[in-house]
Amino acid sequence: SYVLLNDQITERKNVKIDMEDRGYNFGDGIYEVIPIYNSKLFTLDEHLDRFEDSARKLEIKLPYDKNELEKLLHQLKNANKIDNGIIYVQMTRGVSPRSHLYERDSNGIITGFSREMKFPEKPKQKGIHVFVTEDIRWLRCDIKTINLLGNTMIKRNAFDKQCQEGVMHRNGNITEGSSSNIFIVKNRTLYTHPASNLILNGITRQLVIQLARKNNIQVIEEAISLQQLKGADEAFITSTTQEITPIRKTIGDVDATFQIGEITKTLQQSFNKYVE
Ligand code: PDD
Repeated sequence: SYVLLNDQITERKNVKIDMEDRGYNFGDGIYEVIPIYNSKLFTLDEHLDRFEDSARKLEIKLPYDKNELEKLLHQLKNANKIDNGIIYVQMTRGVSPRSHLYERDSNGIITGFSREMKFPEKPKQKGIHVFVTEDIRWLRCDIKTINLLGNTMIKRNAFDKQCQEGVMHRNGNITEGSSSNIFIVKNRTLYTHPASNLILNGITRQLVIQLARKNNIQVIEEAISLQQLKGADEAFITSTTQEITPIRKTIGDVDATFQIGEITKTLQQSFNKYVE
């Protein structure tokens, strides 16, 4: 299979990463997961904007501009003939003798792969169970960093409790899922955590907010308390790979069950039409 290495599309076997790459030593890097529907890179612009934004926040320098990266990602998808799936792209701060103190002048190292993937239908139709637990992550969750230990620990924990996602709360408020954003519906109004330093502002989240407004569903971006989650009429998570997935049941710090309601279904239909 073909992969991206800096400004080259090359075979995977040609890629060698240095053991003092800062991504490897410190988790010092950023990434994006971009969906491919019907051979098209979906919401590519939004993903690249966020990639640039993460790079700026961490002072990692892109080795070339956004247009060049866009061109390379199209080449990657075409080289692997992906019709439906994802592109994963990451950039680390590159190689330097191990030191916490980073320099600002070195170029980032970019790698990427594409993968054919069928976005699974069953969870979208039948819903999932989620484990609600404390948010143990740092305070810059707005940066899409490859440093994901808080997220991976919570995902593992959720699966060990027979749940498909972990949903986190900080100071009594629901923030997001381990790899998704979360919405609730109450009295036909949609609620989700505001885009602050406490969550990743998902591209799917932003699209769902737009689609809701198009469907005359009111959206309120404010913190959702644990009690509000418990009393919600509907709840769902959103992400590039999980699209809009209903929550049927929560365990852990909130015990609740939900129907897959009309608002969730409307948004799913609206989303499907949008990606067609
Ligand atoms: N994760 N919040 C977190 C912590 C995430 O990791 C993700 C996505 C999202 C949703 O963002 P988006 O709608 O832009 O995909 C929210 C990706 C899919 C991943 O790490 O695989």
